[in-house]
Amino acid sequence: MTQNTFLRLGGIRDVEVFRNYLQDHHISIPFDAKLLAGATSPLGQPLHRGGVSLGNRFAIQPMEGWDGTTDGRPTELTLRRWRRFGTSGAKLIWGGEAVAVCHEGRANPNQLAIGPHAVADLCRLREALIQEHKRSVGSDAGLVIGLQLTHSGRYSRPNHHDRSEPRILFHHPILDKRLGLTDDYPLLTDHEIRKIIEDFQRAACVAHEAGFDFVDIKHCHGYLGHEFLSAYTRAGEYGGSFENRTRFLREVVSGIRSLAPALGIGVRLSAFDTVPFKPDPQTSVPGMPGRGVPESFKALLPYRWGFGVNRENPVEVDLNEPVQFLSLLSELEINLLNISGGSPYYNPHLQRPALFPPSDGYLPPEDPLLGVAQQMQVTRTLKQQFPNMIMIGSAYTYLQDFLPHVAQAAVREGWVDCVGLGRMVLAYPELPLDVISGREPQRKQMCRTFSDCTTAPRAGLPSGCYPLDEHYGRSEAGVRLKDLKQRIRTRREQKT
Ligand SMILES: Cc1cc2nc3c(=O)[nH]c(=O)nc-3n(C[C@H](O)[C@H](O)[C@H](O)COP(=O)(O)O)c2cc1C
Ligand code: SF4
Repeated sequence: MTQNTFLRLGGIRDVEVFRNYLQDHHISIPFDAKLLAGATSPLGQPLHRGGVSLGNRFAIQPMEGWDGTTDGRPTELTLRRWRRFGTSGAKLIWGGEAVAVCHEGRANPNQLAIGPHAVADLCRLREALIQEHKRSVGSDAGLVIGLQLTHSGRYSRPNHHDRSEPRILFHHPILDKRLGLTDDYPLLTDHEIRKIIEDFQRAACVAHEAGFDFVDIKHCHGYLGHEFLSAYTRAGEYGGSFENRTRFLREVVSGIRSLAPALGIGVRLSAFDTVPFKPDPQTSVPGMPGRGVPESFKALLPYRWGFGVNRENPVEVDLNEPVQFLSLLSELEINLLNISGGSPYYNPHLQRPALFPPSDGYLPPEDPLLGVAQQMQVTRTLKQQFPNMIMIGSAYTYLQDFLPHVAQAAVREGWVDCVGLGRMVLAYPELPLDVISGREPQRKQMCRTFSDCTTAPRAGLPSGCYPLDEHYGRSEAGVRLKDLKQRIRTRREQKT
């Protein structure tokens, strides 16, 4: 299938066309032609399991906005985003956004971070979300709100948006080169790791004090928690064996359990990975990356730098260790799990499937529906093996107008417990409520995966839906983003 043969979902209205396309191309994504509303809606059903009570089956995924102050505090833009999460009517707010447990672990100089004002700031965000949720749905019954705790590890940029200050656990033969790290670039020491573990524990206490129901100990997208799981080549207590690679999680959890025993714990996990992708040099021109291709890995076999990949062919998924990881979560009595995959930095086509690449990405190497299907299939496989966990699925936004049809079928058929929405909510926060209430979804509000919300932060601008949310489109940042895209287009035209 070539780039040009993808079904452009934005141009399709007929559910049968979509369903036939899935069938003809053997894309395994469940689909309900008729949407159900009210009491009959699978997406509107409450869920009570393991002491957690959710009012419906929509979750809002964590999404940061690169819009905090340089000392890690929320701004009006941050508050606005959290209010819009509340408006959505989704009853599970998974994390709000990644909040760094310490300054050095921030992914950008505008990421929220735990500091002296964190309890009051986080209370304000949570309260604003709840107020808006009540205004929009009438009650906050069944609303569960978590806070995502992070350390950005390899992707730390705490001080300047254009200067990375990586904190790495091991040398990665491909990613080190991308970040310009030499062989003697220092690794985090075990002592430094122990301090970071304490930071996580302290941050969890802050979240508890601010009223959050749970914290997510982030293990996804190439950040530190995820890097631990791939630390096969690291020596010492935190690398090598499965037991060592999960010591970070176990130590964070045991500290939280003793300091804040009533606080819930969840994990967002990149349950599979692949080798980093790059734009195909053969088809790239300045300003227009080529299609994504995996970096050459033949000389790196057996591949020891990816969690949930087949070592002999690391572009294939292998769920043996992820299953072992879920067993460990069960032993630790962690039953809230949000499944994601890969990383937005080195394989965005899997992490957030899109038709239009972000400025640092590449054209889709395959139909983005295959990326959606892969995330759904992995989640389904894990769900089948761990039926008692509450599992949240990711990467549904690319489905656009057909998202409600797929989401309903996925929940109805038990592929997943809750459907998590990321980009769609930046573009169209009311979608969950419209679907559950039986209102016709608004086509003009649908996210079309233009990727501006990823491109803007790469240029040091706040993230938001520039094409569809006027607040961003008409802002000064919107003018700068337009200017940036125009310059890229001009460069491309001059070269072609
Ligand atoms: C602007 C933006 C910010 C994001 N920030 C976070 C984050 O803070 N934490 C996280 O786990 N994922 C983050 N993600 C990933 C999303 O949670 C989600 O996994 C991804 O967008 C795929 O879901 P979707 O197809 O519904 O957009 C972010 C995504 C976007 C587009
Ligand atoms: S900028 Fe808006 S339309 Fe584009 S991917 Fe992000 S949310 Fe979707």
